[in-house]
Amino acid sequence: MVTRADLDKQPRDVAAMFDGVADRYDLTNDVLSMGQDRRWRRAVVKAVALQPGDRLLDLAAGTATSSEPFADAGVRTVASDFSLGMLRVGHRRRPDLSMVAGDGTRLPFADGAFDAVTISFGLRNIVDHRAGLAEMLRVTRPGGRLVVCEFSRPTFAPLRTVYTEYLMRALPSVARRVSSNPDAYVYLAESIRAWPDQRALAGQMAEAGWQGAQWRNLSAGIVALHRAVRPV
Ligand SMILES: C[S@@+](CC[C@H](N)C(=O)[O-])C[C@H]1O[C@@H](n2cnc3c(N)ncnc32)[C@H](O)[C@@H]1O
Repeated sequence: MVTRADLDKQPRDVAAMFDGVADRYDLTNDVLSMGQDRRWRRAVVKAVALQPGDRLLDLAAGTATSSEPFADAGVRTVASDFSLGMLRVGHRRRPDLSMVAGDGTRLPFADGAFDAVTISFGLRNIVDHRAGLAEMLRVTRPGGRLVVCEFSRPTFAPLRTVYTEYLMRALPSVARRVSSNPDAYVYLAESIRAWPDQRALAGQMAEAGWQGAQWRNLSAGIVALHRAVRPV
């Protein structure tokens, strides 16, 4: 069983945890989000708003489910993650996608290499996520964009209560039936609870050097899309 203390994971523990859930990751996601993840992913593509030929880094791409719609739209997409297990599952499904193993806090890319960087349900998992925000800034060209899609804080108090119940009780028990490593989903629930709310995350983006951070709530704030620009 994963406890609150386990939230202080080392990066290698996080990579090993995702290696362990990789095979059933996409199925588990669909079940736990009750299919909402597809809608959230469409909103990310719209928010990143790239043209065919633009260069995109999808960081913490996992099995590359978050990268696929960009590549399919003709965007030059690089899916990067530090879990080789997750990348392998993605590569099996989509061998045509470009995948690069890398740590989000020390990316193997040149300064300004991308027109935009996006990260879906991954920033919360980067142990030093502030360092991750600074590293994403480094690899984005001046004037380029960042879009973060992450679990956040429901804005409607009664929904917040029901949702917290779901996270702490139902989600781990559903995960026990679907996932190959249900304990990882206890960690998931705890990490969502401990994550900064919409305003606090926008503040952290600004501290990392991003400009004009704004957010839009999806599913009443269960998920938030944060957007910002690298100053010119
Ligand atoms: C919940 S998955 C999200 C995958 C994908 N973006 C999606 O939307 O389905 C989080 C991913 O973050 C990756 N991750 C966590 N810390 C990382 C780091 N420091 N560098 C690179 N990837 C990291 C994990 O390996 C995992 O694949």
